[in-house]
Amino acid sequence: MSQVLINQYLAQLDVLRKVGGTHRESVVREAFKDLLKGWGKQHDLVFIPEYKLESATRDTRFVDGALLHELRVPFGYWEAKDAKDDLDAEIEFKFKRGYPQDNIIFEDSLHAVLIQHRAEVMRCDVADAHALEKLLKLFFSFERAEIADFRQAVAQFKTDLPAVLEALRAMIEREHAANAAFTRASKKFLKHAQEAINPGLTAADVREMLIQHILTEEIFSKVFDSEFHRDNNVARELYKLEATFFTGGLKKSTLKGLEAYYASIRAAAAQIGNHHEKQTFLKVIYENFYKVYNAKAADRLGVVYTPNEIVRFMIDGADWLCEKHFGRNLIDRDVQILDPATGTGTFICELLEHFRGTPAKLAHKYKEELHANEVAILPYYVANLNIEATYAAITGEYAEFQNLCFVDTLDNVGLHTQAHGVTADLFGSVSEENVARIKRQNGRKISVIIGNPPYNANQANENDNNKNREYPEVDARIRQTYIAESTAQKTKLYDMYARFFRWASDRLDANGVLAFVSNRSFVESRTFDGFRKVVAQEFAELYVVDLGGDVRANPKLSGTKHNVFGIQTGVAISFLVKRKGSKGGRVFYARRPELETAEEKLAFLGSAALSRLALEEVRPDAKQNWLNLTSNDFETLLPIASKDVKGATKPSQEKAIFKLFSLGISTNRDEWVYGDDPAALARRMRFFTTNYDAQRPTHDYDTTIKWSRNLKRRFEQGRRETFDAERLTRAAYRPFYSPHLYDSDLFIDEGGSKAAMFPLGKPNCAICFSDAGSRTNYVVLAVGGIADLHFGSSIDAYQQVPLYRYDEAGNRIDNITDWALAEFRKHYQPGRGRKPQPITKEAIFHFVYAVLHDPAYREKYAQNLKREFPRIPLHGDSDTVFWQWAAWGEALMALHIGYEQVAPFALVRTDVADEKVRAAGQSPKCLLKSDKETGRILIDSETMLSGVPPDAWAYLLGNRCAIDWVLDQYKEKKPRDPTIREKFDTYRFADHKEKLIDLLMRVTTVSVETARIVMAMTSRSR
Ligand SMILES: C[S@@+](CC[C@H](N)C(=O)[O-])C[C@H]1O[C@@H](n2cnc3c(N)ncnc32)[C@H](O)[C@@H]1O
Repeated sequence: MSQVLINQYLAQLDVLRKVGGTHRESVVREAFKDLLKGWGKQHDLVFIPEYKLESATRDTRFVDGALLHELRVPFGYWEAKDAKDDLDAEIEFKFKRGYPQDNIIFEDSLHAVLIQHRAEVMRCDVADAHALEKLLKLFFSFERAEIADFRQAVAQFKTDLPAVLEALRAMIEREHAANAAFTRASKKFLKHAQEAINPGLTAADVREMLIQHILTEEIFSKVFDSEFHRDNNVARELYKLEATFFTGGLKKSTLKGLEAYYASIRAAAAQIGNHHEKQTFLKVIYENFYKVYNAKAADRLGVVYTPNEIVRFMIDGADWLCEKHFGRNLIDRDVQILDPATGTGTFICELLEHFRGTPAKLAHKYKEELHANEVAILPYYVANLNIEATYAAITGEYAEFQNLCFVDTLDNVGLHTQAHGVTADLFGSVSEENVARIKRQNGRKISVIIGNPPYNANQANENDNNKNREYPEVDARIRQTYIAESTAQKTKLYDMYARFFRWASDRLDANGVLAFVSNRSFVESRTFDGFRKVVAQEFAELYVVDLGGDVRANPKLSGTKHNVFGIQTGVAISFLVKRKGSKGGRVFYARRPELETAEEKLAFLGSAALSRLALEEVRPDAKQNWLNLTSNDFETLLPIASKDVKGATKPSQEKAIFKLFSLGISTNRDEWVYGDDPAALARRMRFFTTNYDAQRPTHDYDTTIKWSRNLKRRFEQGRRETFDAERLTRAAYRPFYSPHLYDSDLFIDEGGSKAAMFPLGKPNCAICFSDAGSRTNYVVLAVGGIADLHFGSSIDAYQQVPLYRYDEAGNRIDNITDWALAEFRKHYQPGRGRKPQPITKEAIFHFVYAVLHDPAYREKYAQNLKREFPRIPLHGDSDTVFWQWAAWGEALMALHIGYEQVAPFALVRTDVADEKVRAAGQSPKCLLKSDKETGRILIDSETMLSGVPPDAWAYLLGNRCAIDWVLDQYKEKKPRDPTIREKFDTYRFADHKEKLIDLLMRVTTVSVETARIVMAMTSRSR
């Protein structure tokens, strides 16, 4: 790789010289810069051009480039010179001016000189590729002791912190019992905190605040040489509380375990002269700290900082929109700016930088018109530090930032509209100051709200107890607006992004700009149709810059590589302009290329401006879609199912092909209720039932078994269910994988309509398909039993339409409506003259199934199928065409439902003993990988199947082919549930190997035959 980079460099140098006809530094330096950048990337180093060196004399110098560690500690520097300069004289001159001498390259496009530890270690001719490689290797092998120590210290910190935490907790507990001064002070603090911050705060919260304070005060006060946070209003109270017991020798000895960590932070911080980088350093430390200290809270509060490129782009865009719409800039008087989820204060700091050029106005802005809220104590400190330090760096003087409030933004509803007196009543007085801040902020007409709200949509596991709290007022506003206007069936709109959008829309003045970076689901998800409608009504102009990176929708992407936050959900930046009297908004949209990396996206934002961006105006359709608008005949086709028909009480209202449809089952405890081995499943469920019954109604549910909100509710209602082996059945968990299921009414969280579709022992079959709003590729597959909610992907839901349904007495009823039968007959068999084979409901079932497989249909209606239930076209007019499609459907269905019985495909099996594992007395290593190029499937380190025909891979269900679905299900996975892991982890691949090989051969037949039928469809007339 390094050779390649050097060759590229020399070639680029050649081109630049030829094109530019010059050796001028400004032209040819680009080549060396690219070389350093590319090489640095391999070492996870960030290249910063024109890096500012801060000297003690306040005399500013810029080196041409610096490579920085993620922590922002400099790794090495580069200075380019002109070929006609005297390089040695230049080096001497630069060192006199205070350039760093620990690891720096000087080059003039002819020669390169490397200085390390104040001495020249090598010089070479840059055209000598071999020598240049050696020089660069020396440069990149430089190791700063502080960084090595720091890395070690962080790893150690993770090990040491729990013990220190435990000691601190025990100490606080003890003081509670024995130290009257402490008890008094903490009671007082709690009262204050409840009154000033949130009435829901408890004594336990106070303890945690105190612990966080104790653990981090050292870090923060040392990174910035400032004592200021002793003056901060909440910190001051915490210092007082701390002083009642935790001082001197006790403090020293307790924190001794973490001293190495603190020392390494101090040492690393001392290396950073640049103020900007110091801030980033603090943010990285803080994020690291929080994730070790309390991973759950870090997740719940969304503790991640916003990359500077995004922040700058948003500030610049908001400034432009203010000017465009209101003729004023952010720096102008009376433009009040608020960051409601300030975290480490990045937005406010960057705003201060933005105003750097107008120092006179800056002071007023800082004191009167910049506002921030934060709800967590640690970010609050960091924001305070960063903001004040930035202001001091710009102006040269220290001034307290008085507009950072310690308040839950979403609780601060409506207070700004109330008289100050009311506010004072509500907020009591932990510190008069905080109340004054909140009052001041609430008294302002906010013109710009800008920030990065937290995201945590739903708690993944009830046993984690990491639930988001509710916000009755904001949630009610969401209900009245976004949900009221939505057509989605189930609306999960109480996520933090939706809440912050709702809150900010209401909080903003009649004229103003709202700029948020959030996830991108509001752009196209069906659930957000009401949201899209309402924001387009409430705002005059909307700009959305879609940064993509939705890993779940596109498995080719990776969170770390393609997503600007390194997460799985896509990201978008939005700007919403509110203007008095405006009716109906215009929506502008731009999207970054799907495969662009996060680094490229940030580089793009770093140099882009909203005002210059080519945005497309979107004209929302009647269903509030913004993207991928379709104009086709979908609306005229026969609906497969609908909410109205499902609920209809008269047959004349049943104008859809199927009456009943339902989502697959959502168990909320898959590892408990599904299983390959019925005996093991029965053992697990006996255990579950026993533990459930043994639970005492004390509300502290024993997490040996997996609880969920529904199960707790059912428990409270006194619902019980004795273990019954008759409940063991099989279900379609994933395509071509039907494990056993314990069909419980109590322990399956959401049973959908399983009782009406698949009552135990009654025959039926159903078509399972991707629900409206799915993000992954379409799935349609017939199944002979209950399907799982996440049948084709863990992030999407799947619906089922069955051939029959059953009433409570067990009577079978046709699920295909009479209306559908009449429509088909009217179309295909209108006359009475001939006596054709009459169309039956079963034939319609097959017809529908075939049409849903038709590639031309899937392509034409791809966008519709993403958003809505399918509708079915009646291909051709003749009876013969109908029967052809019905026959295809019937053949497909026989293959898909009977996949375990079809003839196995003759794959070639090769077994070669793995001597190494045998000698070690182990089983062969499980591989389960397919290789489409060679047509092979690697089963384990001893067995391979070959001869998979190319067509077999073509049969796709969602994002995988059928064979890969099967392989995936048989892998050995570590159970996530701790009880299962400990007591019931019995799955060993070796026990299932032969069964799997047999299944793969059969699924190969299914795939090849499916591909053949589907191919036939494409060549036949419709
Ligand atoms: C994504 S971070 C903000 C990052 C910030 N822009 C930065 O660069 O540091 C979200 C922040 O919102 C805070 N937060 C979460 N819920 C909040 C609420 N209801 N009110 C105020 N702040 C909240 C979190 O503690 C977290 O610091």
